Amino acid sequence: MNIGIIVHSKTGTTLKFSEIIAGKCREKGHTVDLVQLKTDIAVDSGSVRQKMNFSLINNPDCSGYDAILAGGPVWALSASPIIIAFLEEQQSFSGKKLLPFVTMSFPFTFMGGKQAIKLMSSTAAGKGAVVLPGKIVPRLFHNSQALMVKAAEEIANLL
Ligand SMILES: Cc1cc2nc3c(=O)[nH]c(=O)nc-3n(C[C@H](O)[C@H](O)[C@H](O)COP(=O)(O)O)c2cc1C
Repeated sequence: MNIGIIVHSKTGTTLKFSEIIAGKCREKGHTVDLVQLKTDIAVDSGSVRQKMNFSLINNPDCSGYDAILAGGPVWALSASPIIIAFLEEQQSFSGKKLLPFVTMSFPFTFMGGKQAIKLMSSTAAGKGAVVLPGKIVPRLFHNSQALMVKAAEEIANLL
């Protein structure tokens, strides 16, 4: 399977999770591209509820992928505006699998993780994706490295 992992990561945590996912998917024989989203201006904060002025400068062409794994940090109790911009700007995910994943600081998934996955899933479904159950890795009071490895194995087994 041809897999695109598209990630927004400001401080490297979600990128690290992406790299673990990529490794587990490659172990299963999949071909994986990992693309880190970039914006024209620095975006250090913000929320999906406010209008923001950035543009994506490397919105990838996902037409060649069978499955897209879209990841980002939780921001302001929801998804990062940058990963949502990616999902909204794609023309169609028709016939493709899409699995959302997030990392977050707070210990409980209801503190933004679940809301982020819900919004990413509904945005992708609106573009015709077959949405797979998302993964949330919280950090505070957790062994986030172990959670990332476990989630990455589950993702690779699901595809
Ligand atoms: C602007 C901003 C808002 C954030 N809001 C939340 C939040 O609502 N809940 C949470 O658990 N973590 C929140 N965080 C923490 C990040 O989700 C967390 O540190 C994440 O793992 C960072 O991923 P990254 O290194 O890939 O950017 C926020 C971080 C930033 C910069």
